[in-house]
Amino acid sequence: MCRRDAAAPSRYRAQVRAAPSGVPAERGADPRCPFAVSAPFSRRLPPLPPPRRPCARSHTGSPAAGGRRGAAPVLAALLGLGAALAYGERRRRVAQAAQAPPPPRFPVYTREEVGRHRTPRDRVWVTHGTEVFDVTDFVELHPGGPDKLLLAAGGALEPFWALYGVHNQPHVLELLREYKVGELDPNEAPPAPADTRDPFAGDPPRHPGLHVNSQKPFNAEPPAELLAEQFLTPNELFFTRNHLPVPAVDPETYRLQVEGPGGASLSLSLPELRTRFPKHEVTATLQCAGNRRAEMSRVRPVKGLPWDIGAIGTARWGGARLRDVLLHAGFPPERDGEWHVCFEGLDADAGGAPYGASIPYARALSAGADVLLAYEMNGRELPRDHGFPVRVVVPGVVGARSVKWLRRVAVSAAESPSHWQQNDYKGFSPCVDWDSVDYTTAPAIQELPVQSAITQPRPGAAVPAGELTVKGYAWSGGGREVVRVDVSLDGGRSWRVARLTGERPAPGRAWAWRLWELRAPVAAGTELEIVCKAVDGSYNVQPDGVAAIWNLRGVLSNAWHRVRVTVTR
Ligand code: MTE
Repeated sequence: MCRRDAAAPSRYRAQVRAAPSGVPAERGADPRCPFAVSAPFSRRLPPLPPPRRPCARSHTGSPAAGGRRGAAPVLAALLGLGAALAYGERRRRVAQAAQAPPPPRFPVYTREEVGRHRTPRDRVWVTHGTEVFDVTDFVELHPGGPDKLLLAAGGALEPFWALYGVHNQPHVLELLREYKVGELDPNEAPPAPADTRDPFAGDPPRHPGLHVNSQKPFNAEPPAELLAEQFLTPNELFFTRNHLPVPAVDPETYRLQVEGPGGASLSLSLPELRTRFPKHEVTATLQCAGNRRAEMSRVRPVKGLPWDIGAIGTARWGGARLRDVLLHAGFPPERDGEWHVCFEGLDADAGGAPYGASIPYARALSAGADVLLAYEMNGRELPRDHGFPVRVVVPGVVGARSVKWLRRVAVSAAESPSHWQQNDYKGFSPCVDWDSVDYTTAPAIQELPVQSAITQPRPGAAVPAGELTVKGYAWSGGGREVVRVDVSLDGGRSWRVARLTGERPAPGRAWAWRLWELRAPVAAGTELEIVCKAVDGSYNVQPDGVAAIWNLRGVLSNAWHRVRVTVTR
């Protein structure tokens, strides 16, 4: 049980300082800003007490108070007296303060207790440093929207403020203090030391805002409402798809093996990869084959993690071109017959089998395909979850082929023998079940089909009458440009065209998603079924229903995305 009742915050609020009433509203104008100050909120604060006068001036009769009177020598002589009087005044105040009641002592809470306050019904609590705040009354006032603030509910604000730096200003902290209700327990036991027998014990720390679909191995996606907030997905919020524990790689001793023609082999250290080959940068979207699987499971159960719409993200990747490395290893730019470039990761299962995948030779060697051996993600070294120190990035192709923690590259007449190339990540007819499936009959997924989804509003939301803003992402595989996104507010009976944001890509190299937006008037009291569908440059369009594309592994889920909301008065 928590040691505070729901009515307590107002009691405590009276004891803490008011936030500055004069904070200009535009300082908090960033819509992504939890705790940025909104105009209505700053108006509702009580005015600040008048500023305290400095000690020397407050003492009536002090010569310092009338400093302009008298000649300089007299003033100099009196300065000593002034200092003595000021000192006496200070002592008097210190003595007074000693008799005054102590500043309010706040109750102490454990992190677990804070974690129970995640909804307005249970009160919304957050922590900052060692302090606990009940921000329930601020949730609806949050300029970035209540949903964004609720992402931090029950936990620390710092990981979110680190992403949205506008919060790191003194007036935001002042405002937060208004809501203080407690302190974190200083005696709380630190997290248990990692269990060395647990193969996942060495996994890196993760952002608390991620929605975790499985902890071990770690698989998580960003909250949908943050997904399309920025064109480039912040590294901390980029979806993570791991099949195995994250390997601990020492960058000093790391070597990438590239098997050359005729048995020759190239071994590259990290500095060699960085310096021997020109650095190439590509902005590309990665999407997992299982993105939106949860919708498929609702038609009929499938095997796999229940990804919502967030197993997709866009980053600016930096590294060496795979083509440059393979040419350097002695391979020709083109080759007759069927050839593949196979990748192996440093992560291996209990039997020692590494994660592996392959792509066709022609794509690996194509100058226009922009396949990278990436060591940077959004201008920083690759995070551990995303393949540190080197990963493959294959733009326009299913994420499964972008092998992380890369240890080996080899050219072969056959595709990668890996389970993830041979069996997993293949599409089948809805009539195929686990008794009848024959993996050899279906090709491994490479280029993904056209995709789009609605990131705002969220399913089940109550939206205010007036102008509704619908937002989302759209992307297609193989570098095919998204040329249009259609949005319906009535389940697909009538359509409007959304506005695509950002720049048009180079022809045939549309590696990155387009974010889109539609504004439309909506009337109070109506139920809306918002639908989106994207069209790519080859006029491929998303299928209208999930049932017809259902498959036993729940991959390639790209039907029209539907979100039902209610319009309130
Ligand atoms: N590479 C290795 N070595 N191990 C993996 O588990 N997962 C793959 C791919 N590369 C994986 C891997 C899958 S299925 C996807 S969708 C992408 O990595 C996800 O990349 P991300 O975790 O950086 O988003």
